[in-house]
Amino acid sequence: TYVIAEPCIGTKDVSCTEVCPVDCIHPTQDEPGFDQATMLFIDPEECIDCDACVEACPVDAIFPEDLLPEQWVDYAQKNAEYFQN
Ligand code: SF4
Ligand code: F3S
Repeated sequence: TYVIAEPCIGTKDVSCTEVCPVDCIHPTQDEPGFDQATMLFIDPEECIDCDACVEACPVDAIFPEDLLPEQWVDYAQKNAEYFQN
């Protein structure tokens, strides 16, 4: 799966949601809670590892889980937790 890390916080550019073929990045701009959301997250159950979102993100916030920079490895858990409600 792919994971969104810290650079998304304060940016929330949403370009990633526009290119994702399976719409697994949430919340999107038209979903409830978007305005309050700190950042966006990728649903690990839905992501098909297509890599499209990596290029789309202007702040390089998205990584394949196994290539997450060391300081951001906890974001794998944070992305997954968002979908465990
Ligand atoms: Fe969506 Fe592809 Fe990014 Fe996974 S890698 S979140 S499927 S755009
Ligand atoms: Fe965040 Fe980058 Fe998407 S800033 S909302 S991961 S395009």
